[in-house]
Amino acid sequence: MPARRPVTHFEETSDGPWRVVGMAAITGSPLKPLDFLTVVDRTLERAPQDDDWPLRGMASYGRYVSLAERKTLEARQPMLGRPEATRAALIPIAKSATWWDLAQDERRAIFERSAHIHTGLGYLPAIARRLYQSRDLGEPFDFLTWFEYAPDDGPAFGELLSRLRDTEEWQYVVREVDIRLERTS
Ligand code: HEM
Repeated sequence: MPARRPVTHFEETSDGPWRVVGMAAITGSPLKPLDFLTVVDRTLERAPQDDDWPLRGMASYGRYVSLAERKTLEARQPMLGRPEATRAALIPIAKSATWWDLAQDERRAIFERSAHIHTGLGYLPAIARRLYQSRDLGEPFDFLTWFEYAPDDGPAFGELLSRLRDTEEWQYVVREVDIRLERTS
């Protein structure tokens, strides 16, 4: 039997490695507060233990990236886990039924008009990112987005978020929770 692909779990711990320093419901309902978080890959999914945590998602293939964009991204994007990147953000997002009813080319057109990749590229290599898909796992969110950055790049990250939240794409966001973290060691 082929090995099952790992499912990344964002789950509560008692002591780190990430301390939650802020949590805000930007759109829709909040999540249960927690003090510490870890990010672990598990081959076998555990049954949901709680109403909110763990949140689960899978790193997956690109749905919208062109070859040229992929090459630019690969050249500019840093790895996760850089020692200086002691701040992180976990931003779970759900999009509306209207979004999911659109055809792939319509979604890509909105993504492009919103200049998501173009805008995001301007913040690389300061921000390291990973996108996890959750929708097909029957999770409460469609995406779990994860970002790591140095403390000095916090303001730039905030600017990036407000630019994206102002776009046509974000009109389809029905739930978004912004969780900020600091590495404990
Ligand atoms: C740091 C700079 C960023 C870059 C370079 C970037 C780049 C990308 C790229 C290339 C994709 C397409 C993935 C695919 O083809 O499936 C994507 C998707 C996505 N990004 Fe970003 N992004 C950035 C920041 C952000 C931020 C700050 C957020 C907000 C929390 C965000 C939320 C998302 C979401 C939710 C998707 C999935 C969209 C969908 O499939 O409908 N991104 N991003």
